[in-house]
Amino acid sequence: MEKIVVASTNMGKIREIKKMLDSIGIEVVSMNDVLDEEIDIEETGKTFKENAVIKAETIMNMIQLPTLADDSGLEVDALDKAPGIYSARFLGYDTSYDIKNQYIIDQVEGKERTARFICAMALAIPGEETMTIEESFEGEINDCIAGENGFGYDPIFYYPLLHKTSAEMSMEEKNLYSHRAKALKKLYSILKEK
Ligand code: IMP
Repeated sequence: MEKIVVASTNMGKIREIKKMLDSIGIEVVSMNDVLDEEIDIEETGKTFKENAVIKAETIMNMIQLPTLADDSGLEVDALDKAPGIYSARFLGYDTSYDIKNQYIIDQVEGKERTARFICAMALAIPGEETMTIEESFEGEINDCIAGENGFGYDPIFYYPLLHKTSAEMSMEEKNLYSHRAKALKKLYSILKEK
């Protein structure tokens, strides 16, 4: 395989994937580089994997090139695994993460604090069955917002091994333990054999 299209417009994600796959000689391009029009894919799946497959197969069917998509989010046990696949939409797309994060802290007060980030990836190749990977990053909901790095729910995601939130970790630290980094490492080893 020489080239993979990433079914995302998130430059952060594309950069991470590019960094990993460059070393095995696979060119990584964004869907914006190969599509003439902007498209908005509806995430109608009930699981992270289903949403990743929907995104990867929709783009692959349009361009007939190997296409990778990912879907990720935060599961909080005390909230019956919410916000889960609705992580980006939780309390409204336009609501700030300060509000979303404080809401979660308030909701878990006095309850079980365990939580995890999940990352599902799907690789759709023309004429082949779509491949999926799912990895998690286990932690707890912190009792306050802490840290400036990362994005989204990082300031409330406490990682006991390092005694800090994922927003207090350096990029290098997060890339050692995160759900997305683990999924990318698995993808790398699968593609190396292809
Ligand atoms: P998507 O995979 O782009 O749909 O992102 C889902 C949402 O999950 C993001 O908008 C964040 O709210 C949350 N999320 C996923 N991964 C992370 C992470 O590594 N840190 C913080 N929030 C995350």
